[in-house]
Amino acid sequence: MNNRDFELNFSRLLKVKGHGISLKPIWDLFVAHCISYLARIQVDFRCGATSVSSTGMELQGVLTFLGLVWVARWVLHIVLDVVAALRKFVWARLSKDNLPIKYGGKWAVVTGCTDGIGKEYARQLAQRGMNILLIARNKDKLNNVKQLIREESPGVETEIVQVDFSHGRVIYQEIARHVEGKNIGILVNNVGVAFSPPRKFVEASEDEVWDHVNVNVAAVVAMTQLVLPGMLARGRGAIINVASIVSSCPVSYQGIYAASKAFVDFFSESLSWELRGSGITVQTLRPGAVITNMTNFAEFYRKPSFFVATTKTYVTSALATLGHSGRTTGYWPHGLQVFLMDEIFNRRFCTPMFGWSFHAQLKAEQKRVAEEQAKKK
Ligand SMILES: NC(=O)c1ccc[n+]([C@@H]2O[C@H](COP(=O)([O-])OP(=O)(O)OC[C@H]3O[C@@H](n4cnc5c(N)ncnc54)[C@H](OP(=O)(O)O)[C@@H]3O)[C@@H](O)[C@H]2O)c1
Repeated sequence: MNNRDFELNFSRLLKVKGHGISLKPIWDLFVAHCISYLARIQVDFRCGATSVSSTGMELQGVLTFLGLVWVARWVLHIVLDVVAALRKFVWARLSKDNLPIKYGGKWAVVTGCTDGIGKEYARQLAQRGMNILLIARNKDKLNNVKQLIREESPGVETEIVQVDFSHGRVIYQEIARHVEGKNIGILVNNVGVAFSPPRKFVEASEDEVWDHVNVNVAAVVAMTQLVLPGMLARGRGAIINVASIVSSCPVSYQGIYAASKAFVDFFSESLSWELRGSGITVQTLRPGAVITNMTNFAEFYRKPSFFVATTKTYVTSALATLGHSGRTTGYWPHGLQVFLMDEIFNRRFCTPMFGWSFHAQLKAEQKRVAEEQAKKK
């Protein structure tokens, strides 16, 4: 647990006009009190006014006091986390905002919208009355999603932008042409790639390495730069940046992916603080396992379970947290995983655990491919 998380949770809980109330002054008072207490003992000891045994008792008292403060702080942190979780995963589900009004624009932009989490965001945002600017690379799949939205949400407008984010800077002029003249209320920076299945960095092709940078990192920044000025001019808007549960934990065999998601996490949270008071909501989303093409490489991720969500379950939960939490997994079982990863086990345990697990998946995949090839012969 670090001081920053503690303040963030508390400020989210109190939410006074978007500005949190910080517990830091109270914590600083505690620390100052402890230091002055220790200093007093030191002075007493030097002046010979206190016997060694009574100094020992005083020290014991200070240590007990510090211990109690530490435990109280930890317990308070857990209680605040539970209350914050109830607020974003239960209370938020009960209130359904009118999204176009709340975020000051009728249009939502969803990148990587032809499959998985992005497709579900596009569908659910349309069901909530938003027009959708659909951005992905495959024309047929884009048309299918457009058709699906037309059937599910008649009256909602859609527009297609066919671009490949792996091409880097050159594609943004085309996207800018479609964004121009539209009131963008919500941007979902969803597009992302990963090794599927996980594998060693040294085995990645040059294209794969650049894809991670252009798709996972550059697209988030460039898309934000495109829509943010319009949102600022209207004083309203929401940007959802899809990072990952692994953004706080280095992961071998998915090293570039985890690092790129750490970038998204840091960029998104920095921007969120920078834009406080502007009327723009920036949400960092850190999903755990969701059943999509990206996770299709392992048996464990193909069936829904307590920790593995379908896209519908996941996005229904995550979308409800928009405006209620600035940095969240979006789904409470994933929140539990993050709590265990960040607070209990931390990266000293999680990095080797992911490494072993991905290594096992890597071996299983190699075995499967070898067996398939043997069968063909
Ligand atoms: N699934 C999970 O368990 C999980 C967990 C944590 C975070 N996430 C994050 O969630 C986001 C969505 O992941 P997902 O699991 O839904 O992935 P997915 O099922 O593979 O879908 C990715 C979407 O992005 C599009 N796309 C991929 N590369 C593109 C490119 N170069 N240019 C344009 N579009 C491109 C895909 O289009 P095509 O159909 O043409 O490929 C597809 O529509 C990602 O940022 C991912 O890192 C996922």
